[in-house]
Amino acid sequence: MIDEKQFGREENGILSKGSEQTDTLRRRAEDIFLRKAAGMPKDLEALSPEEVRQLVYDLQVYQIELEMQNEELHRSQRELEASRARYFDLYDLAPAGYFTLNESGLILEVNLTAATLLGVARSALVKQPLTRFILPADQDIFYRHRKLFFETESPQVCEIRILRAGAAPFWVRIDATVVRDVDSAFICRAMMVDITDLKQSEEALRKSAEWMRRALGATVQAIAVIVETRDPYTAGHQKKVADLARAMATEMNLPANRTDGIRMASAIHDLGKISVPAEILSNPKKLTALEFSLIKTHAQSGYDILKGIEFPWPVARMVLEHHERMDGSGYPQGLIGEEILLESRILAVADVVESMASHRPYRPALGLDPALKEIENNKGTLYDSGAVDACLRIFRGKGYKMIG
Ligand SMILES: [Fe+2]
Repeated sequence: MIDEKQFGREENGILSKGSEQTDTLRRRAEDIFLRKAAGMPKDLEALSPEEVRQLVYDLQVYQIELEMQNEELHRSQRELEASRARYFDLYDLAPAGYFTLNESGLILEVNLTAATLLGVARSALVKQPLTRFILPADQDIFYRHRKLFFETESPQVCEIRILRAGAAPFWVRIDATVVRDVDSAFICRAMMVDITDLKQSEEALRKSAEWMRRALGATVQAIAVIVETRDPYTAGHQKKVADLARAMATEMNLPANRTDGIRMASAIHDLGKISVPAEILSNPKKLTALEFSLIKTHAQSGYDILKGIEFPWPVARMVLEHHERMDGSGYPQGLIGEEILLESRILAVADVVESMASHRPYRPALGLDPALKEIENNKGTLYDSGAVDACLRIFRGKGYKMIG
């Protein structure tokens, strides 16, 4: 039933907002009635009892219908208010700042969170350029971002620093989408999230990774120095192999991180020679079969020393596999083809080229050309084709020179 008390309530915007509006409605209803009454019989007493009953019936039905419509209006009103409350919770109190910009970058609307982030009252933000709140050094980033999303009409993300009165600049991520408003003009709806904590964590992580990288580099360098101090005839060999393998990996378009791993492993790939008697390593005569078999243990020994160290690259495995050959004729495991890690195949080619090109205790240097011929002739059988091609390209096509 109708709750009559609700008529004329201030918040009842559908029916009336006060007694003045009620009176106006009443006058309008009376006018309509008077116009309609012109067509009604003037003498109601002339109506038959049946006609009177019908008229009363019609009026009662009409009244019930009006009451039902009124109840429906009240229900819609309550739903509208609930929807407004939900909108307030979801939009204004959202954990992210929301704002709408026009094509010139002026703020059309913001939620409470965005106003709090910018440290300005919401009403004072309307018609303000968003760039007013962006750190000058980051304004170009935002201009490019704005140009891009209006040009491409596709969602865009950027990270910039925001200025807030009395506080240090802080980082935000802006996710923007372009839509058309009711007049078909482009507007940008954007979400702004404070990512200062994330940026600080990223920076701490970057510094920590950089520190780890330097510490690992220094450790690898210390191992290389120990090996070369004990084995002066191969002094510089590891360093030269490391630079060549790095250049080959770069030529093969390997990611920078994998290239770093190859350079690190190459710099200590003969570490296992520490377990081989010094007099065998420095023996100027041709090696006996027994001596050679002792030298061959260096791949496994190097692996055994390194396997417990957690490098971010498969360093121990590269050291273990640097004498493996594509056809299975290498050592220590006799691996075939892709059973050998790509990094190890690159290291193997660099090792052969440097070894043949340089002086050895038991022979003079053979020279670079025979070394390149060796890998060219055995490409695909002993040596990885891609690694050989890269090595030949950098020496013959790009003028690569062995360091030292
Ligand atoms: Fe070796």
